[in-house]
Amino acid sequence: MRRTSTPRTALAGQESGAAPAHPDVAVVGGGVIGLVTAWRAAQRGLSTTVLDPEPGGGAARVAAGMLAAVTELHYGEEALLGLNLASSARYPDFAAELEEASGQEIGYRSCGTLAVALDADDRAHLRQLHALQRRCGLDSQWLTGRECRRLEPMLAPSVRGGLRVDGDHQADPRRLATALLLACERSGVTFRRAAAAALTVKDGRASGVTLDDGTRVEAGQTVLATGSWASRLEGVPHELLPPVRPVKGQVLRLRMPSSSAYGPFLSRTVRAIVRGGHIYLVPRANGELVIGATSEELGWDTTVTAGGVYELLRDAHELTPGLTELPLIETSAGLRPASPDNAPLLGPTALPGLHLATGHYRNGVLLTPVTGDAMGELLATGELPEQARPFTPARFGDPGTEAAGVVFASEPQERSA
Ligand code: GLY
Repeated sequence: MRRTSTPRTALAGQESGAAPAHPDVAVVGGGVIGLVTAWRAAQRGLSTTVLDPEPGGGAARVAAGMLAAVTELHYGEEALLGLNLASSARYPDFAAELEEASGQEIGYRSCGTLAVALDADDRAHLRQLHALQRRCGLDSQWLTGRECRRLEPMLAPSVRGGLRVDGDHQADPRRLATALLLACERSGVTFRRAAAAALTVKDGRASGVTLDDGTRVEAGQTVLATGSWASRLEGVPHELLPPVRPVKGQVLRLRMPSSSAYGPFLSRTVRAIVRGGHIYLVPRANGELVIGATSEELGWDTTVTAGGVYELLRDAHELTPGLTELPLIETSAGLRPASPDNAPLLGPTALPGLHLATGHYRNGVLLTPVTGDAMGELLATGELPEQARPFTPARFGDPGTEAAGVVFASEPQERSA
């Protein structure tokens, strides 16, 4: 996602080291998915360069950072559920390793999640989610409205019931991005602060990229990790362009008071169905309260709109009336990279040397650990781990391996960090 409002804090790792002339790996895109891929590749002894005008940017700058494998389950996403749960299970060790490697905390909180319903229809909807969770063998407990308010006293009296899910946690995506940048730097990853203009192909193999300043980076393997923009890189054979599209999300950030005699404003992530609409409130240990998110199919638009802000505040206010007293500190909008089956595209393409790590849609922060492990293994050994194999780009059709003579993307490209 691209952030569109208040400036972010300066990040480390933006111009580091002398990039090798011919790195083993070029990672196009320096969001959390590109960074974790680069970090894992460097740990495996591969010389690695990240290409991005603003590394540490991307969708994670806007995301709330819910690790919500259970409460964000949808019908038909059972295969994705397995990957989500695997990544969720890795988070404690991943967070500890990354914090050790970077010296930065990533705001991992094992606080659990409460998903609540406001009216009778919302409750019926939530009951269906509960039934699906149980069919999938997931740990989720139905609570009455009163039991929900006992856990979270700021909830409105109109809350009709909810699901307590103690295994859905959170991380702070901005801190995650900062930590990954530092970990990359310390592992010897180099950064080129420029946008990739085109993939280069030589003798039927991806050979790196040309940057928008005209310089070339030749690499043994190239990973496309530019989120929604992965569908638009010039030079990628047309039929190999990943079928990802942008889905806009608007997000608010408020400031909670430090805990009063009555306890914290919220002690865990609260998700809600409010008269058919979906909303979530993610309270961070540092007092930030993230409220999200709209879901809008508007192409590349990242405008923060009065209507989007109104809808989020209207539903959040109905859920937690005391919220209108809190300072509103930021509004933002970004783009989720959505694939046709809502699952990521991980692994090799039919063009030798070109790999994808994109299409993470609603789960980029959650899937960061498992994506790093899968891509690191692929880049170092040529083999994708078993767990990631259902998510290769080949599931959307295998156009063959011939790069020569294929149709190339011709639309003018515009890429944002
Ligand atoms: N996973 C939260 C969102 O996509 O809004």
